[in-house]
Amino acid sequence: MRTQVGIVGAGPAGLMLAHLLHLQGIESVVIELRDRDYVEKRVRAGLLEQNTVQLLTESGVGQRLQREAMHHTGNYLRTPEWTHHLDMEKLVGRSIWIYGQQEVVKDLIAARLEYDDPLLFEVADVAVHDLDSERPRITYTHEDAQQELDCDVIAGCDGFHGICRGAIPDGVLTSYERAYDFGWLGILADAAPATDELIYAWHPNGFSLYSMRSPTVSRLYLQVPADEQLDDWSDERIWAELQTRQASEGWQVNEGPIVDKGITPMRSFVCEPMQYGRLFLAGDAAHIVPPTGAKGLNLAMHDVHVLCEALVDLLRSGNRTGVDGYSERCLRRVWRRTSRTT
Ligand code: FAD
Ligand code: DHB
Repeated sequence: MRTQVGIVGAGPAGLMLAHLLHLQGIESVVIELRDRDYVEKRVRAGLLEQNTVQLLTESGVGQRLQREAMHHTGNYLRTPEWTHHLDMEKLVGRSIWIYGQQEVVKDLIAARLEYDDPLLFEVADVAVHDLDSERPRITYTHEDAQQELDCDVIAGCDGFHGICRGAIPDGVLTSYERAYDFGWLGILADAAPATDELIYAWHPNGFSLYSMRSPTVSRLYLQVPADEQLDDWSDERIWAELQTRQASEGWQVNEGPIVDKGITPMRSFVCEPMQYGRLFLAGDAAHIVPPTGAKGLNLAMHDVHVLCEALVDLLRSGNRTGVDGYSERCLRRVWRRTSRTT
């Protein structure tokens, strides 16, 4: 098989890149390790910034988002003594939208399937080759058959644990990493949020965040030690701790059945540059900011927006200016976000 852009990973970065390239008349093949159901149900980000919403809307995949996303002008900061509303729209003229990452993924998969370009789930043994040549290749197994995909370029959108970054020869990348001694225990609950906007709460027991996914679904996080075991947190203990850390006079967190529960370690990671030869990394494959900042998905969207423009110039007219400056342009934004959260 042959394509212009081989995309490894069908997370938000890979799917959005495929969509933007398609709008520019550029072919791609997307290959994904997991099955469709898994990627459409993976609970992760929820806070979309204005640029992300604009990109999704302007590229024609924002119809459901415009109907269902919850628009917030700011958020609340809380301690046991006080609650303060930060009106971001008034202060800086920007606002945010709450819309689950898996909903973005579903919308992008639906768009992709409509125009019938290859999007392959459950691939295995993925490897990338000849990255410093004009014809890089991806090899993988799909439906028990070994496949080889010849590409003009490869986009490594395979997340932090993917294989693309590791395929870059030793000595090319400089990595910066910081692990934190705490993580976030996150739950999704069938309970109407008891707040109109997100509440970031400081408490002597640790941080907590009251977020949401819809008028009937709450998303909440508790700061826990990095080595915490999920089994030690019964639903009763989680709710009791949330009530303690979010407490405010005459008000309570709304409780309901917990439908998803997990612990996310906190890590900052940046690799520099985000490219080697004809391989370009995007999103979590190149950088991780801890979820505290709600930045990862938004940065991934920015990366692929920049990458798409650069690839259009390269593949249509051989102009390398965009691809040569890709990493520097994206990392400028990433470092601003990373230093703020470390
Ligand atoms: P991923 O979503 O990791 O996608 C990579 C894809 O590649 C996956 O589907 C994976 O299965 C696939 N893959 C991996 N290896 C291979 C392989 N070898 N071959 C083929 N496919 C492969 N960000 C925000 O902006 N706002 C938030 O509110 C926010 N909250 C968060 C809350 C939590 C609890 C967590 C964990 C993260 C949060 N983030 C948030 C971060 C955000 O979820 C990530 O930054 C985002 O998923 C990055 O998208 P991506 O496409 O780069 O990577
Ligand atoms: C969410 C996650 C965050 O890290 C954040 O700052 C805000 C919202 C969320 O998953 O809803």
